[in-house]
Amino acid sequence: MRHIIDIKDLSVEEINEILDTADDMISNREKYSHVCDGKKLATLFFEPSTRTRLSFEAAMLELGGSVLGFSTAESSSATKGESVSDTVRTVGCYADIIAMRHPKEGAPMVASLKSPVPVINAGDGGHNHPTQTLTDLLTIRREKGRMSNLTVGMCGDLMFGRTVHSLVNALVRYDNINFVFISPDELKIPDYLKHEISNIEGISFVETDCLESAIGDLDILYMTRVQKERFFNEADYIRLKDSYILDMQKLALAKDDLAILHPLPRVNEISREVDDDKRACYFKQVENGKIVRKALMMKLLEVEV
Ligand code: CP
Repeated sequence: MRHIIDIKDLSVEEINEILDTADDMISNREKYSHVCDGKKLATLFFEPSTRTRLSFEAAMLELGGSVLGFSTAESSSATKGESVSDTVRTVGCYADIIAMRHPKEGAPMVASLKSPVPVINAGDGGHNHPTQTLTDLLTIRREKGRMSNLTVGMCGDLMFGRTVHSLVNALVRYDNINFVFISPDELKIPDYLKHEISNIEGISFVETDCLESAIGDLDILYMTRVQKERFFNEADYIRLKDSYILDMQKLALAKDDLAILHPLPRVNEISREVDDDKRACYFKQVENGKIVRKALMMKLLEVEV
């Protein structure tokens, strides 16, 4: 039995295989419409979500399976003090696979130790979000036609943005990736990640606080929201929340084939006027998220077409 807690739980070969399956699903959706007949997905969301929970549920329904679960901790027995371990042991009696989001870093990993069925981390605190990473990788591959030889700008809250941490960990396993980390000083990418990637051959990074000066070099621009829910002090959030706003004026400095990604939800960091630009890929990412989760669940449930 496999759990996916970190993107590193999948080898590069497995990631590429999942992306290949996802590509095939886009061309041949009907082929997959009964592969999970009789299977049940439980979505255990102790923290809010729109895309991740609903895309997991839509994915399982499109594969022929069914779904159960809860969307807030308050509607579960966590409010009575039940541990995540006991929760998954219980839910494992009702479902074949679990997708769990939790505000505490490491909670899905702890849950996986006692779970009788595969557990997928659907986001744990400011730590990791591996299925968003599969979404991002599929989008990058479909938009750019490659996963190597890329200059990737990551902009915004690089400290608390779990999608950034997971995506960096994934991209460092491909060739010739140059990261440009764009953030205010208070929201820089964690030192542990910089340390991890600093000695990998073919991987380089620079840090800057200026989007305008960096944007012209980028193949990918990964915009992120300042993660309000991770701040201890509201004044700091208000001061930092609009540090970067991508608008048409800044986009005029970018390459014609830039791909703009954002895990969403967006607040102010991308102006609405950018949505109609051909370089805006964030709503394609939403669709890709459902497809790649279908491919991942098929793999973990060991079902085939
Ligand atoms: N990208 C993402 O995780 O979105 P949700 O918080 O809406 O699930």
